[in-house]
This record gives sequence, C-alpha cells and structure tokens, in this order.
Amino acid sequence: MSILQINAGTCSQCGICAAVCPIGLIEFREKGYPEGGASMESRCFRCGHCVAACPSASLIHRDIPAEQCPPIEKELQITAAQGEQFLKSRRSIRVYRDKAVPRDVINHLIEIARYAPTGGNGQEVEWMVFDNQETLRQIEKLGLDWMRWTVEQRRSTVFNMAEMKKAQEKSMKELLRGAPTLVIAHAARNIRIASVDCVIALTYLELAAKSQGLGSCWAGLVDAMTSSFPPMQELLSLPPGQKAHGSVMLGYPNYHYTRIPQRNTPRIIWHGGFRK
Ligand SMILES: Cc1cc2nc3c(=O)[nH]c(=O)nc-3n(C[C@H](O)[C@H](O)[C@H](O)COP(=O)(O)O)c2cc1C
Ligand code: SF4
Ligand code: SF4
Repeated sequence: MSILQINAGTCSQCGICAAVCPIGLIEFREKGYPEGGASMESRCFRCGHCVAACPSASLIHRDIPAEQCPPIEKELQITAAQGEQFLKSRRSIRVYRDKAVPRDVINHLIEIARYAPTGGNGQEVEWMVFDNQETLRQIEKLGLDWMRWTVEQRRSTVFNMAEMKKAQEKSMKELLRGAPTLVIAHAARNIRIASVDCVIALTYLELAAKSQGLGSCWAGLVDAMTSSFPPMQELLSLPPGQKAHGSVMLGYPNYHYTRIPQRNTPRIIWHGGFRK
C-alpha cells in the first residue's frame, strides 16, 4: 500500500494538505489531486498534519489511521480570555494535601503531555514516576547527603547550598515539598534535542495537571542532584543509555490562589514589521 491515498470522491482539491506538510512532501497542482512525492516513504516523519488539516477526511496516510486522530470538538474550544487566565494563573505549588494521586490520573496527564511538540517529531520522551512515599522520603534523605557533599566538596551550584542544607536538616522537605508524586522525563542520551523536548513535555504535564485540579512544581534541586550525585543516579536506575532531563513534583494543592501575581515587563527586540 502506498503511504498516501486520496479519496477522489470527497477531496475538494483545496491543496491544504500540501500547504501544511512541514517538509513539502505532498505534490499538488491546481485542479489536480495531491500526490505523495518520491521521497515520501523515507522522509515523512509522521507528524500527521496532512491528515489533521484535511477538511473532508479525504487523505489516508498508511501509518496514521484516521481513527487514531479524533476530531477537534468545537464546543470544547476555550475562549481567548479563558486561555489567558488559565496560563497566567498556573503557579508552582509547594504545599500539598496529604492525598495520593491515583495512577490513572497520572497516566492521563502523561497521555496529554505526549502531544507536546518534539524536535523532528521524535516523540522520544520517556517517563519515570515515583509515588511510593518511602522512596520519596529516601530521595529527601539523599538530598541532604547531596547538600552536605556539595558543601564539603565546595562544588559550585546555582543554589545557596549552605542555606539549603540548613533548611533540609530542619524540614526534610526542601526537595519535594511533601508532594506525593515525582515525575521525571528522560530520553536516550544520544538524542541531542531531547532535553528541550523533555522540558516542553513536563511543561505540558504541569498545565495538564492544573486543568485536572492538581498542582505541580518544577523540581530543580532534584534535577541538579540527579545530574551530579551518583547515589541518586543509582536510586533512579534509568535504563542504559538514558538521561534524565527534568522533574516535576505533583499533588493536590492545599491552597488556591485568588490573584495573578505581577511579573516583569518583557524585554523585546523588534526587528522590523511585516511587509507584503
Ligand atoms: C526543540 C524543537 C525544535 C523544533 N524545530 C523545528 C524547526 O526548526 N522547524 C520546524 O518546522 N519545526 C520544528 N519543530 C516542530 C516539530 O517538528 C513538531 O513539534 C513536530 O513535528 C510535531 O508536530 P506538532 O508540534 O504539530 O505536534 C521543533 C520542535 C521542537 C520541540
Ligand atoms: S505526516 Fe507530516 S511529514 Fe508526513 S506527509 Fe503528512 S504532513 Fe508531511
Ligand atoms: S486537504 Fe484533503 S480535500 Fe484538500 S486537497 Fe488535500 S486531500 Fe484533498
């Protein structure tokens, strides 16, 4: 079966599929039907844009079955104002309720996060989830060891490690803030764009969490510990060849915010306007 087939009975010959293909693989001439070019088999990176943009479901892609591409429901579209408030009101949650996040909820968030953009549509982000409270406490203990080790070794970090260490000795909650879940995104070490992909996927996860009534916070200390401290790497035991690129704590927020805090005015350099 060829990779691309067109239903000539329903195709309106609009050419949208050709226009949206990121690599220009679909050939289209006025009053003709779209066709897959010669290099399609090897160069198509299965982004699904051709299937998703066709207004009449006339384009059949061998590897992207239409039944796995659900329609976008108009009644679920949010307004611009709703979108703006949703994005601006996301906060890093650091006080969590003593309530476990069910695994099906975490699965749902990860399912949403797989729609995040990935370089070359690589979709290589993988996940590690900690929801065992004993292991999370073990990570907090390792955190203290790591802080002491960092201070003793005088290793330079972006954190004020001496102060962090004091706080951790007091609360044992500096790393994870008492969150009942820690989610780590990882990918094959040899994929150069993977760290960006993982960060974007975790950002999707954070936004998805908010949309489901959960709270989250980027776990930068865990990231720093994971990249530098062998005992933490041992605890993670990532599959061979994998590298962790970011982690987020997750749980039900104890408090709800009623205002959007102020942020800096963006600094923007404009390089000329649009001319046609
Ligand atoms: C780190 C990164 C780099 C990307 N670079 C490019 C790029 O240079 N040109 C481009 O057309 N798309 C680029 N993309 C977009 C991806 O190709 C796109 O996310 C992927 O094909 C999936 O499509 P979607 O974002 O529509 O879901 C990039 C995406 C990421 C995350
Ligand atoms: S799946 Fe993406 S890359 Fe492949 S033909 Fe369709 S639009 Fe082009
Ligand atoms: S987008 Fe659909 S209707 Fe338009 S030319 Fe392509 S296959 Fe035909």
